[in-house]
Amino acid sequence: MNDPRPLPASVLAVLAGETDVAIVHGEALDLLARAAETVPEAFGALVTDPPYSSGGAFRSDRAQTTEAKYVGTDQAGLRASFSGDNRDQRSFAYWSALWLSAACRACRPGAPICLFSDWRQAPTASDALQAGGWVWRGLAVWDKTEGARPYKGRFRAQAEFIAWGSNGPMPAEGPVLPGVFRYPVTQADKHHQTGKPTPLLLDILRIVPPGAVILDPFAGSGTTLVAARMLGLRAVGFELLAHNVATTEARLAAAPRPLPPAAPAPQPRLPGTEAPPKETAAHG
Ligand SMILES: C[S@@+](CC[C@H](N)C(=O)[O-])C[C@H]1O[C@@H](n2cnc3c(N)ncnc32)[C@H](O)[C@@H]1O
Repeated sequence: MNDPRPLPASVLAVLAGETDVAIVHGEALDLLARAAETVPEAFGALVTDPPYSSGGAFRSDRAQTTEAKYVGTDQAGLRASFSGDNRDQRSFAYWSALWLSAACRACRPGAPICLFSDWRQAPTASDALQAGGWVWRGLAVWDKTEGARPYKGRFRAQAEFIAWGSNGPMPAEGPVLPGVFRYPVTQADKHHQTGKPTPLLLDILRIVPPGAVILDPFAGSGTTLVAARMLGLRAVGFELLAHNVATTEARLAAAPRPLPPAAPAPQPRLPGTEAPPKETAAHG
């Protein structure tokens, strides 16, 4: 791949630390290839929720809209369908390896990756992650709680997965993190047909190393970016559909920014530790 076109100025501004978050309206593989060529190793974490191409067992099912595949009748028509969700198993694996490879070259050594998947695509997600050059380190679980879709006589479809790993060796630093995240989907916090809960992303972003710029090439309604802004982190998102970009921009405008760190409180003096008189404290 040889694509020397620069990334949009908004992305370069985030990388330079001039602003915290940018959302770019564009195609992920195109933008990732440009990032890999023009700002290699610039990003410090990849956190993303790509189209799963998962709904339906047969080719004819998969070719339907995402609304037909993923939305219950009680929610019909509330949120727009999205593209990129019609690949069959082989082409999904091939495409995933392509974009994961470009993303790997855009991320610095040691950068963590968190890749959302459902049960049906979890084996392909971990294969593609490794084919793209990342080290696969595990599957974390998003427990969607008992609010998830029930099935009579079957297990509830209650879990999605986060295939995670790193770009090469990963330093054993930072906080101890959970392997299961339990958050329900709430209608008030759902801005996309397959939008993730903001508290889930707030928790997942605890894996981001200090100072790292997060990359989300399939931003959807921008939940990763909103969580990044709320935590005072830097992040860049790519999204193919204009209405999702507009939703992300509106959410970012409304997202609370973290409070600045409080000034240190004056320390009470213990008896007998009064400051020495000025003339004896001064040197020379
Ligand atoms: C599963 S959704 C992400 C939802 C997101 N996590 C949220 O909470 O809103 C995947 C998104 O990827 C976008 N997408 C699909 N193919 C794309 C591509 N080739 N380039 C960029 N975005 C793409 C879709 O429009 C969709 O919004």
